Amino acid sequence: MNQPIDIRDQAHLSGSEVKNLNFIKASKALVFRKYYRSGLRSHIFEVLLARDVLKETQGEISDGIRMFPRARPIKMFRILRNRFKNKEAIFQEIKKYNILLKFLGPDLIALSEEFLADYTGMGKNQILLCGLQEYVEGQILDPWRLFGDHSLTELFVSMPQKNMANHQRWVEKAKKNVEIFVQGIRRMITLTGYIPDLAGIGNLILTPGGDLKLVDINNIVELNTKDTISLDDKGYPSCDVSIEVLSILEREVLQQDITLEEDPLYRFFLAPKRRERVKKIEREFYANL
Ligand SMILES: Nc1ncnc2c1ncn2[C@@H]1O[C@H](COP(=O)(O)OP(=O)(O)OP(=O)(O)O)[C@@H](O)[C@H]1O
Ligand SMILES: [Mg+2]
Repeated sequence: MNQPIDIRDQAHLSGSEVKNLNFIKASKALVFRKYYRSGLRSHIFEVLLARDVLKETQGEISDGIRMFPRARPIKMFRILRNRFKNKEAIFQEIKKYNILLKFLGPDLIALSEEFLADYTGMGKNQILLCGLQEYVEGQILDPWRLFGDHSLTELFVSMPQKNMANHQRWVEKAKKNVEIFVQGIRRMITLTGYIPDLAGIGNLILTPGGDLKLVDINNIVELNTKDTISLDDKGYPSCDVSIEVLSILEREVLQQDITLEEDPLYRFFLAPKRRERVKKIEREFYANL
């Protein structure tokens, strides 16, 4: 073991440091590399085959030309920064992931093998929640940049490797998947009172094949139907904002008419006065980051 590190406090944890974690078996065949996209709640690493990384850096000759193909992760490895009080709190978190899986199914979320790790790097035992997650390739479906019917077309056009001949089919498939996703979330809300975080940029990804995947699967919050606006563990009003995102998906992607009067969920959460309060909390949250 090299220098111990407290991974929960590190804002950045480099790929080589991850190998120093006592619960990861050193392997010559695998490389853990800090993922270029990141969030607030987790350390995210791509798990790559060492031979793919070698090809990426040294190149390989193909048809007489040296190419440098990007190493594609075989898995994503996530370590939650959250300090859990005890094992029960972690089990509760895993239970929420299973609820999500039940309502959205394996097609709509990035499947994850969630596990606890006993981290001993700082001289005492700490329990961490980790996940080995399926890697999802594609473009971020950013709910804050969805403006009408053309939004999906624009996303398709921005895909690096696309065949324009497939455009119409792709848009139809992606739209259908958004519809199934919205229905699943609504069912989850009604039957369990939980909603996953849909608000974070990068939480939803559309793949080159037109599949929709929720990759951020660890911030699932309880709906609060009281006048108070509940905040998640980072102080973000993720319940209210996620419901707003749901409405954006329905309005902008599915082109549905949304009337507050007819929908009890939106009538309550999207009421103008409440939204003003949520926006204020959001502004304060970003100002304090
Ligand atoms: N399995 C995955 N496949 C591809 N990209 C992923 C995967 N998991 C996460 N990402 C990307 O990594 C970035 C951070 O992920 P995520 O939102 O899950 O982070 P977080 O720190 O847990 O959450 P938060 O958004 O709450 O801060 C996002 O841009 C997301 O698209
Ligand atoms: Mg996120």
